[in-house]
Amino acid sequence: MDKLRIHGGTALHGEVFASGAKNAALPLMAASLLTAQPVLLEHAPRLVDVHTLGELLRSMGVQVEREDSLLRLRADAVSRCEAPYERVKTMRASVLVLGPLLARFGHARVSLPGGCAIGARPVDQHVRGLRQLGARVDIEHGYLVASVPSGRLRGAHISTDMVTVTGTENLMMAACLADGETLIENAAQEPEVVDLASMLVDMGADIEGAGTSRLRIRGVSTLGGASHRIVADRIEAGTFLCAAAATRGDVTVRGCVPAHLDSLLDKLREAGASIDCGEDWVRLRATDLPAGRPRAVSLRTSEYPGFPTDMQAQFMALDCIAEGTATVTETIFENRFMHVQELVRLGARIAVEGNTCVVQGSGKLSAATVMATDLRASAGLVIAALVAEGSTCIERIYHLDRGYEAMEHKLAALGARIERLR
Ligand code: UD1
Repeated sequence: MDKLRIHGGTALHGEVFASGAKNAALPLMAASLLTAQPVLLEHAPRLVDVHTLGELLRSMGVQVEREDSLLRLRADAVSRCEAPYERVKTMRASVLVLGPLLARFGHARVSLPGGCAIGARPVDQHVRGLRQLGARVDIEHGYLVASVPSGRLRGAHISTDMVTVTGTENLMMAACLADGETLIENAAQEPEVVDLASMLVDMGADIEGAGTSRLRIRGVSTLGGASHRIVADRIEAGTFLCAAAATRGDVTVRGCVPAHLDSLLDKLREAGASIDCGEDWVRLRATDLPAGRPRAVSLRTSEYPGFPTDMQAQFMALDCIAEGTATVTETIFENRFMHVQELVRLGARIAVEGNTCVVQGSGKLSAATVMATDLRASAGLVIAALVAEGSTCIERIYHLDRGYEAMEHKLAALGARIERLR
């Protein structure tokens, strides 16, 4: 298993380009199941999760080809409407094939994902919404076995119990081919949901309200192909900005959408960083912080446009070396503090109280061997390692490879002393 070795203490300087967003690429790839026409996705990141979903789609009969950063998908000969346990257990987002398969083919067999490192993460809202659209969904031998008794899904008024990103995406995709109008209330407003809606509209779907909590979808009988550029990865961009702030560097992230980073940029400003934005770039400077260190900043995760849970671990790493004490409250997932014990191994002073961490900033961290536990936790450890004194070894970085494209190369280009040990 690969490891990362990071020699801390170097400020990051320079420019880095944001990749296409993992969390947009996955639903966009799943949406290719809604049409027999080709779907072209530009700016597709090279990530293990993208590869995993590509393999799943291939196993169903979808043609999936990659040419550099272009992904070409064509679902004109789907022979198997099934997502087996072996794939879903490695990537929960595989459940995104359920809505499109049901809508176009009228049946699907998708394994239940089971638990994951950051919490129970059920898919009950996906199932409930699909039932409201007229699907029959049973659980048999660990699988969701779904069919459409009337032959075609029918529009419905759906209100999800909580805001769910992939739940909204699954239901939105299903509703595009349903008979009549669907309303989805309490819909997720994340930029990745908007990106998906925008490609679906290009494919011929009739969707209003993307980016608000209320989606109105009028079903159409067929959808065509599309050529779409995947939105920039705001979490990757945010991770580089946190790393720049923690190392007291000066970094410009290009090819991003600054508006998607608003809640994070506010917190980084509060920490003392100076931030400039252009149309598609953000520059963060933390080279002359008033106190010589960032200020500790408290935060509470919430749905977009609030502070993203996917940035919580990275910001906590920044708080670990800040001046003062901060509280970090996680409201989206019940078990998303697995990085805390690893940060403590690097010398961080963190107390966990329920869903809140009290982080007492300390002037320095010291290198140790630590273990990555999930995707964003790993990114938090990378940031801590970049400031820790000495050489930190991060084990199990396959988590990082699921969601960060060429992270060590991008960091090395910014001056980090980082290497992958195979
Ligand atoms: C997506 C993102 C993930 C991000 C998360 C929250 C993708 C591929 N992944 O995950 O990176 O951390 O949004 O922003 O886009 N829930 C239920 N029942 C459901 C669905 C969700 O109880 O049927 C709960 C979850 O357990 C969680 C909360 O709702 O507590 C939000 O989860 P959700 O938005 O669905 O996360 P994902 O879509 O899986």
